[in-house]
Amino acid sequence: MSFVEDSLSANASHHMFKAVVSHAYAYGFIYPSSAIYEGLQATYDYGPYGTALKRNVQEFWWKSMTQLQENIVGIDAAIMMHPTTWKASGHLDGFTDPMVDNKDSQKRYRVDWLIEAHAAQLVSQGQPTQAKKLLEAMGNYLALGDLAGIDALMQEFAIVCPLAKTANWTAVRQFNLMFATQVGAQEDATTLYLRPETAQGIFVNFLNVQKSARMQIPFGIAQIGKAFRNEIVARQFIFRMREFEQMEMQFFVPPGTEQTWFDYWQARRKVWYNVLGISDDKLRFHPHQQLAHYATAAVDIEYAFPFGSKEVEGIHSRTDFDLRNHAHYARKKIEYFDPELNKSYIPYVIETSVGLDRLILMLLSNAFTQEKETTDGCKARTYLKFPPPLAPIKAAVLPLVKKDGLETKALKLWNHLKCDFAVGYEATQSIGRRYTRQDLIGTPYCITVDYQTLEDDTVTIRARDSREQHRMDAAAVADFLHNKTSIKSLLLQL
Ligand code: GAP
Repeated sequence: MSFVEDSLSANASHHMFKAVVSHAYAYGFIYPSSAIYEGLQATYDYGPYGTALKRNVQEFWWKSMTQLQENIVGIDAAIMMHPTTWKASGHLDGFTDPMVDNKDSQKRYRVDWLIEAHAAQLVSQGQPTQAKKLLEAMGNYLALGDLAGIDALMQEFAIVCPLAKTANWTAVRQFNLMFATQVGAQEDATTLYLRPETAQGIFVNFLNVQKSARMQIPFGIAQIGKAFRNEIVARQFIFRMREFEQMEMQFFVPPGTEQTWFDYWQARRKVWYNVLGISDDKLRFHPHQQLAHYATAAVDIEYAFPFGSKEVEGIHSRTDFDLRNHAHYARKKIEYFDPELNKSYIPYVIETSVGLDRLILMLLSNAFTQEKETTDGCKARTYLKFPPPLAPIKAAVLPLVKKDGLETKALKLWNHLKCDFAVGYEATQSIGRRYTRQDLIGTPYCITVDYQTLEDDTVTIRARDSREQHRMDAAAVADFLHNKTSIKSLLLQL
């Protein structure tokens, strides 16, 4: 699939991806936002199981980045920040995408995506030299901010709209991706911006945290929160949204040591993905060519989604760009006195920044499993093979039938477990159907209370992945679930 089809068609064509999206919708993971009003483009709501999955991922990230680290602490900064923040951070001037509209189709495109797609087409038509010339010219014009040059390039290469097939373009313009809002009474209202990254809440609190929590460099500050971007081209379900959630960590280091820490965090983050069950063949560490305005080096961690290998996390070397600019605009000294070096300096920053929603899409894609009927009589099925500690429901307690005291016994077990685990309870329909329903939402274990339970207080435990069952004392179930499904079991592997 070409880059432009990938970006423009919202990828309806990919069968596997379509199946994941429909599954997420049908089984309570993710819904289009305001669906009763036909939805709102590029915004989504999480349903009961999606919310639980998201909380589990957050917990794993938060604990691995703060609780397990002696030198990283967490904060929770406001979404709305002083407007000068965005002048200092460079977002007001530099956080833009070059866009162009086709007057016939009325569609707006990111111009670099259009040009890259055209270059890919030239390569497939056996014209790699032309493609190289096009890409190099684009790179030069964008670096110079020469939008008229881009206009001319589009004409020269006769780049047409994928829908209208015409070259009836407006001039290329830069669109800022920040959402602006007015705060206060109309006559003296102030323009604020919804934060496009959570990182700035960390930078403006650098001294607060360093002093109040008595942190010594190297140290980190972590945060989970919403970020907002006026993405023009909505793509690929929750991959590119206008309101999304980031989990970011800024690690402050002495200048000159940034390469060591840049390498260190790449290695740490790789292990984190492996522990989540993402194998190396689905992960790619992709060094950035086009750097964000604040970065001197960057690596994207990409996952092999059904629609291609795409970024889920960025690791950036941000130098002292942010702290230095905040110091300048706030007219405050933002420095750290290093007792070991016996001098003050503005620390350098290595950032790990992951999109929580992209992680959810990665986990759904990775977990989505379709099994054919087997020769030994197992029926075909679809299930979600989440790592058990991330599963929305850890186990379902199921009385075999709703009579003869089995229900009372099962409810007793459910009540015993529910304060410690997210456990479901289901008593209606056949046991086979109930197993199927739990498979569809990725519940790793089903605990069945049957007639033998009345005699010897044992239950059966059915494993989602193997469909195998074994008997166990009901009294041992809590320990079993703890060993198999706690976030701790993941943390121990880091
Ligand atoms: N503080 C650095 C920063 O914001 P970024 O590469 O622009 O860097 C970091 O974003 C991560 O945030 C990305 O790797 C991605 O996972 C997520 N992200 C960015 N834009 C997004 C969007 N429109 N929808 C969903 N996730 C997004």
